[in-house]
Parts: sequence; C-alpha cells; structure tokens
Amino acid sequence: MRALDIIAKKRDGHCLTDQEIHYFIRAYQQEEIPDYQMSAWLMAVFLRGMNSEETSSLTLAMAGSGKTVDLSRVSGIKVDKHSTGGVADTTTLILAPLVAAAGVPVAKMSGRGLGFTGGTIDKLEAIPGFCATLTEHQFIANLLRHNIAVTGQSQDIAPADGKLYALRDVTSTIESIPLIASSIMSKKIAAGADKIVLDVKVGHGAFMKDLEHAIQLAEAMVRIGALVGRETMAVLTSMEQPLGQAVGNSLEIREAIDVLSGKGPEALRDVCLLLGAHMLVLGQKAADVAAGKAKLHELLQNGQALMKFTEFVSAQGGDAQIVHQPSRLPQAEFSRHIYSSRSGYVQHIYADQIGYSAMRLGAGREKKEDTIDLSAGIMLHCRVGDYVDQAQPIATLYGSQQEKLTSMVHDVAAAIAVAGEPIQPPALVLGIVDSNGYQPHK
Ligand code: URA
Ligand code: CA
Repeated sequence: MRALDIIAKKRDGHCLTDQEIHYFIRAYQQEEIPDYQMSAWLMAVFLRGMNSEETSSLTLAMAGSGKTVDLSRVSGIKVDKHSTGGVADTTTLILAPLVAAAGVPVAKMSGRGLGFTGGTIDKLEAIPGFCATLTEHQFIANLLRHNIAVTGQSQDIAPADGKLYALRDVTSTIESIPLIASSIMSKKIAAGADKIVLDVKVGHGAFMKDLEHAIQLAEAMVRIGALVGRETMAVLTSMEQPLGQAVGNSLEIREAIDVLSGKGPEALRDVCLLLGAHMLVLGQKAADVAAGKAKLHELLQNGQALMKFTEFVSAQGGDAQIVHQPSRLPQAEFSRHIYSSRSGYVQHIYADQIGYSAMRLGAGREKKEDTIDLSAGIMLHCRVGDYVDQAQPIATLYGSQQEKLTSMVHDVAAAIAVAGEPIQPPALVLGIVDSNGYQPHK
C-alpha cells in the first residue's frame, strides 16, 4: 500500500477500505508517513467526508494505537459519559458519584482542559490532596472497592488521536464530523467503556452551533457505537447560555457539592438527572428514563450521592472536609461584583464570552504550559429570562490579581445583555439521538 494512492483515492471522493485506513494510521504513528501527507489526507477527509464504515475503521485504528483498559474484573456494565464541551458544565463532577451511588460502575479517564476552564481533572485538583494520576492497579482497586475512580487520561490512550488532533489544529481540519466523532469515540473505547452516553452541546457557546450539525455529529457517534459493539446514545443540550452558575475550578467544585446536596442551580441539576437516567438505563439499573430520574433524585435528597462523593474524594487522597467546609478549597484573594447598566430582563448570556473571560481571569489555559489559578472564575447570578435590578449584582468575578479583575469588568458586563422586554428562556434539552434516530424532547 502506498500513502500517495490512499490520499488520491480520498481526494477523488472514493471510500477507503478498513485495511487502507488501518495502514495509514499505523504508518503515521510509526513515522513512516510524514505530517505533510497526513495533512493532505486530513484535508481530503474534511472535504470529501467518510461513511459510517470508514469512520468506524478510523475509530478502531486510533483506539488500537495504544493501550486499551481492561475493566473485565469490574462486574457490571461500565457506562461512560462524554460531553462535547461547554461553559459552566460541571456535569461530570456530579454524575460520577451520583450514578456510582445508583450502582453503575464509574471508570472515568478525563482530560485536562485546554480552553475556557480546566477539565474535570483540573477541577478535582482544586481539592487539597486529591490525586488524579492513578496507576492502572490503583484505578481498578478503587473501582472494585468504591465503584468509582477518576484519573487523568494516560498518554497511551489512543495516542494516534493525540497526534492527529495536534495536526488538525494547525491545518484547519478540526471541524469535520467524521474526524470529531472518531476522535471522541476512540478515546472512550480505549478507556474500556461498554456503553456510552454523549452530551452533545448545541449553541453559540458550543462546537456545534446549530441543531442540524449537532444531530449529524450525534448520529455519527451513535452509528460508530453500533458498528463497534458499544451501544451509544446522545442527549442534545443547549449551550445558548452557561449551564450552571459557576465557571472556574474551585467554584465548580462548590457548585457540584451543592447539586449533590440536593440544592444548586436547577438547569444543571436537570441535565445531570437526564444524562444520569440514560446512564442507568444503559447500565440496566433502571427500567426507563423516568424510573432512572426518580432513583437519582432520591439519592440527591437522601444524602447518598453526597456520601459517595465524600468516599470518592477520600479514596483518592483528597480532603473530604471540603464537603462541609468549602472554604478549605482555594479561595480567591479578590472579588468584584458586576452590575447591569439598566434594570430589565436578561436577553442573552454569551457563554463563549463568559468562558473566555473566566480563562483570562486565570481559570483556564490559553497555552498548554499555562498554570491555572484554581480560585479564579465567575459566578453568574442570573439566567436568560430573569428580571434583574440595576442595584443587584448580575455576576461576581474572582481571582488573585486585582488588575485582571478590573480589566474583565467591561467584557463580563457586555456578555450579559439586558433589555426592557420580557423573553422566553431557550429550551434546555433539545432531544436525543439513539438507534432509532433523532427524537425531539417532549
Ligand atoms: N473533542 C475531541 O476529543 N476530539 C475532537 O476532534 C473534537 C473534540
Ligand atoms: Ca467542560
């Protein structure tokens, strides 16, 4: 097989065979194919697309490019969840202990964030003492004992995807549905998931700006799951405004504790209950979504979800006292309230601008080498549709550098648009995609 022929075949719009795709990925990983040929191939895929079989072959080739985690010693159906990424999206921190408390084993490998805020691992590291780099032995031992373990994604999980992603990033080939779908699914499969629940975010604060593209991405991933024998479904949720109220690492841990205590922001809780219910259904711990939601709701109310979180934090060396004394988490030295220039109804909260501002305050990384200020971030005090009074703060900034806070006041105020007309808030859940295709939310 020759790299040149495979590039030409895709350039001319033909389908590649499973052997051709496996060869191409393996040869690239072994540096027999240089970056310039891979770049040409990626652009050909970007422009010509790939069918479901090709996308599944690419997924499996990348999943098989490194280590695959063997969770066979852990009994039960391992259901993983993945979010395509949003702002104030604390769902993983809540769902992991919540569904573990309901009996679904949670074996989670998470990334560090590059972007608006830290990833789940960065957030967990806001907890003093918390260890997010478990050996495989510790990972399995914790799972067997506590039904939950969360660790940073090791370098050996789908390394071909890491290499390809870095190249896509500099060749303008990120925004391709088959490339995104195979990238996400390869990591979930290598990490050992039996079944997968996806949270595909839709809106100006997300990768997928409109419902049509979000459905296409969800369908591509659901089809890969079916073809490779890992049942997958997707919930499509709105990222027209930040999901929760907290944007920032320590702040999001506090918010997760609130939700796990049966409190916290309603939208965040509702999305967690819906995603969690689908995880319970796939994990055969609930007969249907309604039963799953009812079970999870009870675990939030009766303290068992919070107890599982406490157990999980202790098991990974973290200070479990934070649950009752959140002031033990990194605290910002400075804070500053933001006010609207007028009273009225909140028309928009631009999630991307809020996320970007939080990053500028120190909550996220602009470059891979940047260090995160775990205490930094933004607390929002309103949602779209709320009436806000000019005299009441609509958001609060936190951070350890006063000048940064001052410099972000204007941007954060501008990200929250207020006007005189009442407005209907946007729908939170748009629908689901499973083997039956897309079904709008009722
Ligand atoms: N997230 C991923 O993991 N891969 C992509 O290609 C896009 C988003
Ligand atoms: Ca996130």
